[in-house]
Amino acid sequence: MRTQRCKLQAAHGKACAGLLAVVLLASLCIGAGAEQKTETLYKRLGGYDAIAAVTDDFIGRLVADKQLARFFVGASTDSKKRIRQLVVDQLCAATGGPCIYIGRSMKAAHEGLGITESDWQVAVGLLVATLDKFKVPQKEKDELLAIASSVKSDIVAPPPANK
Ligand code: HEM
Repeated sequence: MRTQRCKLQAAHGKACAGLLAVVLLASLCIGAGAEQKTETLYKRLGGYDAIAAVTDDFIGRLVADKQLARFFVGASTDSKKRIRQLVVDQLCAATGGPCIYIGRSMKAAHEGLGITESDWQVAVGLLVATLDKFKVPQKEKDELLAIASSVKSDIVAPPPANK
């Protein structure tokens, strides 16, 4: 009788240890999942230096593009550096990084430039080319393109009113 109870206790102990292991493993897995979910786009992209490198490549393409170059004619080197820094800050802030964007609103900065839908499509193509060059994974690429799309209506000029 006594041996039987001991056997039962031993079996119960093993079961408890097994259950504990499963619970621990499960909580570790859930923890890892939650961590992945809360990882900012900023971190997934590789942080500040990666965002700065992406911005430099993208702006280099914008300025060199034959359809878009007209927007930057007459801008001094310093003005271009200023725009570059503001874009870096804006992307850093928008992706959850530790930056603060202190530039003008997208509407104020682009209003009157006459940026068309066609210009926008060219710019998006250049951004995709940049992201592909840096081998940014599809998920992060989509998230960045969604951020760009969110400001499209402030950047692309409405069609001129018929008078
Ligand atoms: C067709 C696409 C685009 C063109 C041709 C374009 C062109 C320009 C130009 C010419 C300026 C200088 C305006 C000025 O100083 O008077 C500017 C400023 C700026 N742009 Fe764009 N842009 C485009 C898209 C974007 C996108 C997608 C973003 C960000 C996601 C962006 C962010 C900025 C920022 C942060 C500034 C500086 C704002 C400031 O001066 O306070 N632009 N852009």
